[in-house]
Amino acid sequence: MNQPIGIFDSGVGGLTVAAAIQKLLPQESLIYFGDTIHSPYGDKSEETIRFYAEEIVRFLLGQGCKAVVIACNTASALAFEHLQEQFPGTLILNVIDPVVEYVGSNINNKVGIIATRATTKSGVYRKRLRKLNPKLNIVTAATPLLVGVVEEGFVNTKVSSGAIEAYLGSKKFQDISTLILGCTHFPLLQKEIEQFFGGRTEIVDSPELVAHQLKRLLQSQALLSSAETVEHQFVVSEYTEAFARTARMFFGARLELKEHLL
Ligand code: DGL
Repeated sequence: MNQPIGIFDSGVGGLTVAAAIQKLLPQESLIYFGDTIHSPYGDKSEETIRFYAEEIVRFLLGQGCKAVVIACNTASALAFEHLQEQFPGTLILNVIDPVVEYVGSNINNKVGIIATRATTKSGVYRKRLRKLNPKLNIVTAATPLLVGVVEEGFVNTKVSSGAIEAYLGSKKFQDISTLILGCTHFPLLQKEIEQFFGGRTEIVDSPELVAHQLKRLLQSQALLSSAETVEHQFVVSEYTEAFARTARMFFGARLELKEHLL
């Protein structure tokens, strides 16, 4: 029960999920792995993403993690089932299903989805949403540049506003009621995106939905921690200043970043 929860992404994006988990489950210790050396995942093949994801889960389980959160939509779309097969009996969560459940059962208007190229190409969101609500009007776009904007620390700059305008200014997004940020990097741009839509569009809070799903699952398996002290660890496959800066923004200036090459 008091073992840590493993969380991973290609880089800083999954920190948005880690922060939501820390907020909802403050007694849980976390080990975050950012695969910075292989970032971005969004333009890589299914085989490559599965390979990296498997290596990371092996590493996290080697650190004694009681559960693993795939805090990356791309790896959730392309490697979730593969990881379940490779690590039977391990509690593994993806970031797509909680969002699909929420949107599929609560929204009836036009829904937009922005994600990496790999997630968009997989069609996972569209397929799973259609299963829950066949009538849902869904528009999607691959917005890979937004990953680089976040990863390189260009949030709240002309670079981010230009990229948001270029992607979301497209006609098909004009009358959406709801936008799914189908990449864990994008919540870092949430405020700017909200402003872009003038507050008319609901931006789905994926990290919070994922944190609640994790809580439910840990509870149902009697795995919630009762530890009195928590310790978070942050590991990257290659040190980058941008990662350190963003991680400190979420988890405080004293955060120590370790390097581990897979
Ligand atoms: N943050 C990831 C996602 O949710 C990956 C972005 C990338 O590395 O391309 O898809």
